[in-house]
Amino acid sequence: MSSSLPLTRSEVFGQLRKELYGENQSRQSNTHTFIILGASGDLARTKIYPTLWWLFRDGLLPGNTHFVGFARSKLTVEDIKSSCQPYMKVTDDDGECLSTFFRMNSYLSGSYDDDDSFDRLNSHLLSLPGGPDSNRLFYLALPPSVYQHVSTNIRNHCMSSSRGWNRIIVEKPFGRDLQSSQELSAHLSYLFTEDQLYRIDHYLGKEMVQNLMVLRFGNRIFGPIWNRDNVACVVLTFKEPFGTQGRGGYFDDFGIIRDVMQNHLLQILCLVAMDKPASTSPDDVRDEKVKVLKCISPVAASDVVLGQYVGNPEGDKDSKLGYRDDPTVQKGSLTPTFATAVLYVHNERWDGVPFVLRCGKALNERKAEVRLQFTDVPGDIFGNMCQRNELVVRVQPDEAIYIKMMTKRPGVYFSPEETELDLTYKSRYKNVKLPDAYERLILDVFCGNQMHFVRSDELREAWRIFTPLLHQIEEDGIEPVPYTYGSRGPKEADELVKSVGFCYEGTYKWAQPHNA
Ligand code: BG6
Repeated sequence: MSSSLPLTRSEVFGQLRKELYGENQSRQSNTHTFIILGASGDLARTKIYPTLWWLFRDGLLPGNTHFVGFARSKLTVEDIKSSCQPYMKVTDDDGECLSTFFRMNSYLSGSYDDDDSFDRLNSHLLSLPGGPDSNRLFYLALPPSVYQHVSTNIRNHCMSSSRGWNRIIVEKPFGRDLQSSQELSAHLSYLFTEDQLYRIDHYLGKEMVQNLMVLRFGNRIFGPIWNRDNVACVVLTFKEPFGTQGRGGYFDDFGIIRDVMQNHLLQILCLVAMDKPASTSPDDVRDEKVKVLKCISPVAASDVVLGQYVGNPEGDKDSKLGYRDDPTVQKGSLTPTFATAVLYVHNERWDGVPFVLRCGKALNERKAEVRLQFTDVPGDIFGNMCQRNELVVRVQPDEAIYIKMMTKRPGVYFSPEETELDLTYKSRYKNVKLPDAYERLILDVFCGNQMHFVRSDELREAWRIFTPLLHQIEEDGIEPVPYTYGSRGPKEADELVKSVGFCYEGTYKWAQPHNA
């Protein structure tokens, strides 16, 4: 899709549909049923139903897709509709389409640990068009406590016949350490084959995260410098400007390392560090990611700074409250809301290059980015005026790729000056609406493409890297460093990043260059 071709919305989606399902869409004309387990919960309401609606509205789902909600509460489709609608971005033009969408919906209540409930669910699925031959997608939008029961009941009562396929979509947390995750994996792999399991890490559905492979392997210029001879340091950042308001209960049990670092940031690290896969087939890509993970030793506590936010007395209502003031958080909790960790990939390409993973809540801005800082220019002739080059892939907000570089100061001067080569999506791709991560990932499940989903061996390696640290934090009761709500995080974290070789001069600030 090129920005220079202003296609209409239906043309854009028509093209996309062809790409997804091929010219001969009749192959996909058999029916599909999308079953949302946990249909009354937060995730279903705020993410899954809205995503299904957008895909439906844009004509991206295979024809004849039905949606079935299942949860404990006694609800109707009308109830689901009114609870989801605030998140569905419905416009005045959507009226008829929205009604059609909800006509394709049904809802059943039942218990997660009850065979009869799942028999009833299956009878209902059989009563829908396509009956036993329909392809079934089960989305487990559920708390971990009911995973085992639900997955067993799906397997025992609700699988489609041999003519229809079954796919199971699962959300983190996939356990809380290596052992619990292995237990869950063993349970799931007893019930389902790996190609039926779609473990979501929604960062893998983001435009710029997916772009890393194209950027690296679709260009000549980056390949030769993408290594320890040229890269001084890699920094992967996730920052949020708000605290845990409202979900302290879940978060307090997990902390920022399990919530963001062990999954979202580590997945990005893999895409930055991996070698070129043999092809873009899902298993070739995931093989390379696993190879990277295998080269990373467990993170040492000495390579980590943990933080927890405290209220800012000068801030607004929300930021006046520290993490421990959240009523859903345990009294005196030591759970980190911020972490910076340095990892090393011990292989020929990366030996000695620090990969800094930084993430935190209640910080000064919302930002997720990948930053490669290159080594100094050798044999400087400009009196130490040249700053290091950096390649920045800005994941969100305001997707962009830019290279920090030196140029001659324009005019009568002959001195170097910092500037950027800039690809800002908002200006270069004005007519392109980037889909939400969940839209892409759910479409991938329909299409059977597992490239952007986490394979069980990736998951195991990810937990291997972080489990000793997580246990040590909990067993030793490591105190996180307090930082003020709305700040950059603990200064100790900046010192750690500096100590491993990242140079921050503070002379350059990326300003969205094409703001109208
Ligand atoms: C989730 C975390 O996986 O990602 C949340 O559990 C976090 O704590 C969220 O807020 C961030 O996602 P996004 O897409 O808003 O950056």
